[in-house]
Amino acid sequence: MNEQHVFEGTDNAYGTSLSEQMKWLHEHALLRHPEVHRIAIALYDARHELLKTYVNSSDVQHPMSLYQKPLAASSSLTELATRHSTRVISDLASLPEPHAEHTRWLLEHGYRSSFTVPLFQSGVLFGFVFFDSRAPGAFDGALSLDLQIYVQLCRMSVLNVINLSHAVEGMVKVARGLAHLRDIETGRHLDRMSSYSRLIARGVSDHFGFGDEFIEHVYLFSPLHDIGKVGIADSILLKPGKLTDEEREIMKGHVDLGVQLVDEVMQDAGLGSTEYVSVMRNVVRCHHEFMDGSGYPRGLSGEALPVEGRIVTIADIFDALTTERPYKKPWSNEDALAELHRMRDAGKLDPRCVAALEDSGDEVRAIQQKFGLNA
Ligand SMILES: [Fe+2]
Ligand SMILES: [Fe+2]
Repeated sequence: MNEQHVFEGTDNAYGTSLSEQMKWLHEHALLRHPEVHRIAIALYDARHELLKTYVNSSDVQHPMSLYQKPLAASSSLTELATRHSTRVISDLASLPEPHAEHTRWLLEHGYRSSFTVPLFQSGVLFGFVFFDSRAPGAFDGALSLDLQIYVQLCRMSVLNVINLSHAVEGMVKVARGLAHLRDIETGRHLDRMSSYSRLIARGVSDHFGFGDEFIEHVYLFSPLHDIGKVGIADSILLKPGKLTDEEREIMKGHVDLGVQLVDEVMQDAGLGSTEYVSVMRNVVRCHHEFMDGSGYPRGLSGEALPVEGRIVTIADIFDALTTERPYKKPWSNEDALAELHRMRDAGKLDPRCVAALEDSGDEVRAIQQKFGLNA
């Protein structure tokens, strides 16, 4: 299989990551509307009912990032979402006190007016676009209408990414004529392990310099890790007893099969060289690799093992240990963490990623409560 082609391709002005695309859009908008000083997109995560910072373009040195809060905590955004309406705030300083945290942040950074648009796909909310200006009243006139084109471009860029994993799943199903893709790994396992993956990615974001975009993409794409299992015969995949050595080797082939499927679909979609596709591909390619080179299929080690791979591996193991399987009872979180420690001490797992999971005990329990603990 050709390993190279995914990373080939030329950078275009539009950019290969969503953050670059936002910057390009913003520069373009500034040519005609120099008073638009910030464009930001927040994602709405319906599974957790959370609104999360995602991508932005602004002139401040430290943009608002790694910020999340329940949508319900903002009555005005909730209203925009229910009414499908937009909101213009002429002067943020005149909003009644106490100001919400993000309003305080905007005021502290000199922004005075804002224009907010909820984003929908088939009537379902998936985020908001925020335009902010340092000039009071900037959006009172025709500007909010002129910005519609940028709203649509932002909407399409984000949908490209969030629909990507559905697209892969859908195309694989169609291509293989398989209806039981979801049965291979249950929805709840995928909900939990992707939520753990996001927790870990957030926890190590400072150290590795990850922004919201990377964190959300790990979250979005981690459920695809075992997609290659669609290519494994049911007689092996669903075998109740132990696998023979030969069967185990065939089973291990699910990793390469998965990479092949992602590559095929992405090439068909012409999305080979974007940054988010490489995150998706690495999640599939590296979810059975270990830091000491003892994993499969390539025995990647150390720096050669991308962080998104290290994260997903830990999230997957932790969920396997803490849930009931036909052959084992669920382990307690403490016992599962003790096992992760053993694997970390043996050099298999990234210590920072293990620590990030361990430091998020409350969130881990909340995820388990929300999505149950049955495999
Ligand atoms: Fe797997
Ligand atoms: Fe899994």
